[in-house]
Amino acid sequence: MPKSTTYAAKVQGADGRIPYTVADDAVWGDLYARQEPQIRQHMARPYLEGFDKITLPQTRVPQCIEVSAQLRRLTGWQVDPVPALIGFGRFFEMLANRSFPAASFIRSREDFDYIEEPDIFHELFGHTPLLTDVRFADFSQAIGETGTRCAPEDYSWLIRLYWFTVEFGLLREDGGIKALGSGLASSPEELAWSRSGQPEMRAFDIIDILRTPYRIDIPQPVYFVLEDPDQLFASAKRDLMADIHHAQALGLHAPKYPPKVA
Ligand SMILES: [Fe+2]
Repeated sequence: MPKSTTYAAKVQGADGRIPYTVADDAVWGDLYARQEPQIRQHMARPYLEGFDKITLPQTRVPQCIEVSAQLRRLTGWQVDPVPALIGFGRFFEMLANRSFPAASFIRSREDFDYIEEPDIFHELFGHTPLLTDVRFADFSQAIGETGTRCAPEDYSWLIRLYWFTVEFGLLREDGGIKALGSGLASSPEELAWSRSGQPEMRAFDIIDILRTPYRIDIPQPVYFVLEDPDQLFASAKRDLMADIHHAQALGLHAPKYPPKVA
């Protein structure tokens, strides 16, 4: 997550609804219209099946309470608005309770093409389709539960497992590779990049993932490819703390990206 943001959180009213403006709704509508043809072409079936189940409104920012009502029925998850940036401790605790923390603001027109921090378009359009699927729902909760048990110095190890699967995972499907992660679903540039044949593709392997550093502000040079979403379902039952300790003993891989220039 980025360390700072210029965006302020949108706060729910007494009725649980967030007061989005006409301009906010227009940004959502334009983002949705641009991205829907892209996801139909490039995203894997588990995401698309979830997308069709959750039926987000096309021309206004969806309300977290209405999305939560659908998710609760499907997998027992809910979406709860939070400020743009929260710490890993709170993030993991919420996931452990099947509560998805959603940055409530929507990007401005100036940031239409790219925004480093997550906004409500990324959170709802990107994340909630996978949360309709019990395999991703249970895996996300397992990461959260592990996060509530591990020491703060282990957070950066654990979050890599989330990053390379839920956010930027790929899935083998019908002999090809499709995009699966939320960060790809909500980003036209990175969605195309992930399927361009240029980045490195590695087979899903938890220890390998935990040892792979990443940067949040560049297209990923490395992606991990699931053969089957059941691999995540199985991962939810593993001792992820033991996996973290194993990865720490082996050490981080050398980064595949250039150092960040301050
Ligand atoms: Fe995300």
